[in-house]
Amino acid sequence: MDRQFVSSEFILETRNLSKSFGAVTAVHNLNLRVRAGEVFGFLGPNGAGKTTTIGMMLGLIAPSAGEVRLLGTAVTPAHTAALRQVGALVGTPALLPYLSGRDNLRLLAHLYADVNQARIDEMLALVKMNDAADRKLHTYSTGMKQRLGLAAALLHRPRLVVLDEPTNGLDPAGMREVRQLIRQLADDGITVFLSSHLLHEVEQVCDRIAVINKGQIVTQGAVMDLVGQTQQTVKLRVASPANAATALQALDDVVEIQTNGAYLQVIGVAPEAIVAHLAQHSIYPSELTSRHSDLEDVFLALTSSEEKV
Ligand SMILES: Nc1ncnc2c1ncn2[C@@H]1O[C@H](COP(=O)(O)OP(=O)(O)O)[C@@H](O)[C@H]1O
Ligand SMILES: [Mg+2]
Repeated sequence: MDRQFVSSEFILETRNLSKSFGAVTAVHNLNLRVRAGEVFGFLGPNGAGKTTTIGMMLGLIAPSAGEVRLLGTAVTPAHTAALRQVGALVGTPALLPYLSGRDNLRLLAHLYADVNQARIDEMLALVKMNDAADRKLHTYSTGMKQRLGLAAALLHRPRLVVLDEPTNGLDPAGMREVRQLIRQLADDGITVFLSSHLLHEVEQVCDRIAVINKGQIVTQGAVMDLVGQTQQTVKLRVASPANAATALQALDDVVEIQTNGAYLQVIGVAPEAIVAHLAQHSIYPSELTSRHSDLEDVFLALTSSEEKV
């Protein structure tokens, strides 16, 4: 193996990556950095530019500007050597319908020097396709085809797996299986780049995420940090919301107080601090609910149709 591949800090990097199709700018100045061993989520609504970005990562689409660096070397349609260490699942896997799942993998195995029958069995087991391995592919459900596609993408022991919306078209059980599989790959030390328009999916499996909208990164960071930046909202039922609101104005971190009938909503302060402060004014809530705005709120705020400056 080429040593320079191993020494690079980021296994996958895009530098000011851009792509226009005529007047449409699909990807604009994208800077992504994926570390070896992490599950990196690439989250954005439909049309955000995810598949175009992945196409450039895999040397399928030539960038209009900027570059993709994979394992320390540049990838272009004319220079794809680094892709030997990558497995990818983009769209429906290209497999032969009249062959069994196992024979499809056998056919692919001819492309690689070190993929033997044992490796094929290992991958069939990993994606839970042992039982159906000898059935013809055209009898498979979408989920089964997708799992076999994953086995095919993993056959040659890639260091990085790029998955473009791998749970599209799957039922909830199939989606959960794919998510579990992704975590398992990560546990085995494989880096995963996962694109998705489903927030809960990336929230559940990813270590870090980049949110993309209209071809641009709107935020990038650890899932925990993105959630942590969000504010706490506390809803209270009190005898006199107006009096409680007046009392709570004195708290330092208050962002917003709203009254609504018998209820009071306070944004920006922890529930303990609210209860302690109200007690000093002899106000005792009869109900209290508290929630952190979650990644969903962040996602919706970041990708809402309003133009951001
Ligand atoms: N080959 C193409 N020709 C013209 N426009 C394209 C082409 N591929 C993608 N686009 C446009 O680029 C934008 C991003 O598309 P895409 O990368 O497929 O987004 P996503 O995968 O996030 O849904 C969309 O506006 C899409 O219509
Ligand atoms: Mg897409």
